[in-house]
Amino acid sequence: MTKISIIAAVVGFASIVSALDLNVDDQASIKDIAAKVAKGLYVYHDPSSTAGQFKQPQPWFWWLSGSAWNGLMDYTVYTGDTTYKADLLDSLSKNLGPNFDFVPPEQKNYEANDDQVYWVYNALTAMEYGFEALPCAASTTGAADDCANSWQAIGTHAFEDFVTRWNKDSATCGGGLKWQYTETADGYYYKNSVSNGGFFQTAARLARHTGNQTFGDWATKVWDWSTSVGFVSADFHVFDGAGDDKGANCTGINQDEWTYNIATYLHGAAHMYNFTGGDATWESRVQGLVKAAQSKFFTPDPNATNIMFEQKCEPDSSCNIDQTSFKASLSRWLGKTAVLVPSMKTDIEALLQASATGAASSCSGYDNSTCGVQWYTGGFDGQSDLGVELSALETIQSLLASSAPQLAVKS
Ligand SMILES: *[C@@H]1O[C@H](CO)[C@@H](O)[C@H](O)[C@H]1NC(C)=O
Ligand SMILES: *[C@@H]1O[C@H](CO)[C@@H](O)[C@H](O)[C@H]1NC(C)=O
Ligand SMILES: *[C@@H]1O[C@H](CO)[C@@H](O)[C@H](O)[C@H]1NC(C)=O
Ligand SMILES: *[C@@H]1O[C@H](CO)[C@@H](O)[C@H](O)[C@H]1NC(C)=O
Ligand SMILES: *[C@@H]1O[C@H](CO)[C@@H](O)[C@H](O)[C@H]1NC(C)=O
Repeated sequence: MTKISIIAAVVGFASIVSALDLNVDDQASIKDIAAKVAKGLYVYHDPSSTAGQFKQPQPWFWWLSGSAWNGLMDYTVYTGDTTYKADLLDSLSKNLGPNFDFVPPEQKNYEANDDQVYWVYNALTAMEYGFEALPCAASTTGAADDCANSWQAIGTHAFEDFVTRWNKDSATCGGGLKWQYTETADGYYYKNSVSNGGFFQTAARLARHTGNQTFGDWATKVWDWSTSVGFVSADFHVFDGAGDDKGANCTGINQDEWTYNIATYLHGAAHMYNFTGGDATWESRVQGLVKAAQSKFFTPDPNATNIMFEQKCEPDSSCNIDQTSFKASLSRWLGKTAVLVPSMKTDIEALLQASATGAASSCSGYDNSTCGVQWYTGGFDGQSDLGVELSALETIQSLLASSAPQLAVKS
């Protein structure tokens, strides 16, 4: 028996207890399985529970609702199933805040740069897929222009927030956003990759969509700073962050690597490749990031080639409710990177197909196709939560990214 067929046999057995049998070459199968996993994700939907509308420990996991909605936005576009669209738009409206930038009053003192940007990604995605503008709620003070062109306006307002905070935060480390933007919050003296990568990605996506060089210049500036300070290494590994208080000045880098950090930079770099008309430097950065991700976050088990895993916490089953969701970001942005950077398509598809097959094989929990965390085991490992379902959904549906409508640029 080959090593691969042992995995296949486990998958086959698991299907008796209702694992999801995914055929990665069949669009109808992918859509069908994505629909089942989306239903599993929606078990956590509860508009009355939190502002973000997914059941979460309050208030620190508000960002995760933002990520879940982005998964369901891609689901809507990739599959054409509009089941969740009205709830999605309703939640986005309710979380916009008075400045049209996803800084809602309820999150005051809790919201960090990375929390905000995970909601802002919804606006950028909606902009790129041409979603109808949000109705301007009575609570919004945005100009009429912003209402008519809401998605781009939201992205731009958030970009402007990040520029202001960057300038304020530049007394240390030669630049860079802090994790928290509220001075009294824990984490104010930490600069991190998910925040700076989020700023980079926001700027890059606005640059590509609008053609406005101001955004492109900021994207380049944030990238250059991230490499100079060592958050992004010469061989494209992305480290978590570094302290900036008491003279630390970002010298003691926390070398933890998480899927969502590298994913955040990857998608920004893919946009910069396209924005620059196919610049070879950006292409080699994209290639380097994919290669680093592949070496760090795939194949924990030599018998399960190319299956994504969160190397910091999966092997000892210690991933918390935040961490189980990180693979969703890597899959989401690998899928779209394969479209923006065609030379990466074959490599990325191999990673996504193996991971999606593994993810689907984990969806055999509780006799109702609940998904698990460790996709390389070929079955359900007993851990389920919102992040787990989201990671499985994004990995499976990202197989549809290449056949989805193009990410639009403004004419
Ligand atoms: C991989 O498969 C071989 C049998 O082909 C087995 O001996 C080995 O223990 C497996 N490795 C892991 C990490 O499961
Ligand atoms: C699956 O079963 C679990 C455990 O009973 C439950 O919490 C969850 O809501 C169920 N999921 C679906 C999609 O019905
Ligand atoms: C802090 O780091 C920045 C960027 O590396 C550097 O330009 C600056 O000189 C450093 N400041 C101190 C006080 O070491
Ligand atoms: C480009 O974007 C910047 C930042 O939002 C803005 O200030 C500037 O007016 C824009 N330029 C054009 C030509 O739209
Ligand atoms: C960038 O994206 C646009 C729109 O999808 C596409 O027409 C163009 O060919 C892309 N450019 C490069 C260099 O791939």
